Parts: sequence; structure tokens; C-alpha cells
Amino acid sequence: MPRVLPGQLEDKTIFITGSGGVLGTTYVRRMLAAGARVIASDLPGPRAERLVAEHGANPSFTFLPLDVADEAQVTAIFARILDMGLKPNVVLNNAAITGELLMGAGRPFPDFAETTVADFERTLRTNLTGAFMVARQMDRDIVGRWPVKLINVASMYALNAPHHDIYEGMPFRSFSAYTVTKAGIHGLTLWLASYWRKRQATVNTIAPGAVFNGHSEEFRRRVSELIMAGRMAEPDEIADAMLFLCSAQSDYITGQIHHVDGGFNGW
Ligand SMILES: NC(=O)c1ccc[n+]([C@@H]2O[C@H](COP(=O)([O-])OP(=O)(O)OC[C@H]3O[C@@H](n4cnc5c(N)ncnc54)[C@H](O)[C@@H]3O)[C@@H](O)[C@H]2O)c1
Repeated sequence: MPRVLPGQLEDKTIFITGSGGVLGTTYVRRMLAAGARVIASDLPGPRAERLVAEHGANPSFTFLPLDVADEAQVTAIFARILDMGLKPNVVLNNAAITGELLMGAGRPFPDFAETTVADFERTLRTNLTGAFMVARQMDRDIVGRWPVKLINVASMYALNAPHHDIYEGMPFRSFSAYTVTKAGIHGLTLWLASYWRKRQATVNTIAPGAVFNGHSEEFRRRVSELIMAGRMAEPDEIADAMLFLCSAQSDYITGQIHHVDGGFNGW
């Protein structure tokens, strides 16, 4: 049951990377419903096209193609947005190479012993260096000019180890580079929250838990046993917390990691 709080984000202009995935599309839909101006971005392709098909007619929605791993594109992004007369006051570093994304593309991440430096660094480049480049561009173009919130996206597998056993016999697995980047992203949050403290900028990490996305009944059972709530999350349940972090209700919160994982992290 979506919990729309009308007007919750009516003073917010939100820029979000990697917005065509399971969670990104939910965030965009919920943000628009809560009154935000949304600048969505993602790699060009079918996910981007679906977003534009769904929201393109909404005057509060803009889509910009952006590969967060491409330094030249990231360097130009806020200039493009400001040229359109938009002033982002919330930025979400949401883009990532995820296990689901690799599986969907038919190239699951290799076993640890077979992982090449190129495999590892490709994930770092998007999940961590990409987030750094977006934040650096905020610093150059936005921070200090008006109050702004940066929200970095980690995972239940950032500060907690994966239970590798639950992936046995599954078509996907937990991979090392993912956890490394998701732990690192909270380091970026801590560093920046302190660095920007006098420039009216807050920085937080959200660490979503296991979101249901058509997983098999067996995987659902295995992972649910590790979660205090006893079940996987619906995308809207992660969006509830994300919208709070985007809203004025979170103004006094900075430098924190927010676990939205049904209690996975508490055990
Ligand atoms: N779904 C979950 O269970 C879950 C759990 C914990 C954390 N997360 C995190 O939440 C965020 C969103 O997850 P999701 O489930 O929607 O993932 P997803 O795989 O469905 O979507 C990821 C999106 O990132 C985009 N992307 C990948 N590389 C990119 C690049 N170089 N530049 C720009 N965009 C790029 C993809 O095109 C895709 O639209 C990710 O950071 C993910 O790690 C998800």
C-alpha cells in the first residue's frame, strides 16, 4: 500500500542516477506523487525508455542520459541541469552494477578466484568512483549556493557479510566488488558530511535490505530466515525511507547510515 504524503517533497528538486532499475523507478514514481521536481538519469537503453514512456508527459519530470562512470559526462551534468533553470537540492547516488543487473545481462559476476582486475575495477568505477565524481561535481557547482542533501546508496551487504550459503544453486550470487563498493560509499558519506558541514549540505547513506524482485520461492525462504521481519522488502518500503531522507523532516540528520532491511543488520 503506497504511503503518499501529499506535498512531502514539494520544495524539492531531486537529481537521481541509475533511476531505471527496480528501486529507481519506484523512487521516481513516489517522488513525483509527493510533489517533487525529478531529474532522472540512467544509461541510454530500454530502462531509460520505459521511464520516459511512463513519466515523459509529466511537467515535473525530466530525463537526462548519464553514464556515471564517464568523467566528462558527470563533469557536465549540473551545468546542463542549471542551464535548464533547475536547481537540484537533493542528489541521489543510486546507480550501481548489481548482481541482478549482471544476471539480467547474461553476464553474472565470476567466482572469486576467476575475478579479473578488470571485473573488479569495472564495479568500482560505477559504484564508487561514479558516486565520488557526482559528489565532486556537486561541490563545484551547487554546495554552498543553496541547502542541499546528498544521499548515497549502500546495501545490507555493506557493513555486514553476505551469507554465501543462501546462493548455493541460485543463478546469482553475492560478489566481492559489490560489498567493497557499498562499504566504501559510507566512507564517502562520513567524509563529506564533515567536509560540507558549514555549507548547508547534509550527507547520508541508505542501506536497503533484500528487495523482492521475482526471486524464486526457495531463495525467498532462505533469505527471509535471516531477516527479523521474516520477509523480503517491497520496493515501496525502501522508498518510504528514501522519501523521508529527501524531505525537510530529515534536516537534522547527517553522516548516518540508515538500514532499511527488516532487521537483517540487527542480528
Ligand atoms: N534491490 C535490492 O535488493 C537492493 C538492495 C540493497 C541495495 N540496493 C542498491 O539500490 C540501488 C538501486 O538498486 P536497484 O535494485 O534498483 O538496481 P537495478 O540493478 O535494478 O538498477 C541499477 C540501475 O543502475 C544503472 N546503472 C548501472 N551502471 C550505470 C552507469 N555506469 N551509469 C548510470 N547508471 C548505471 C542501471 O542501468 C540500472 O537502471 C543500487 O545502488 C543498489 O546497489 C538494491
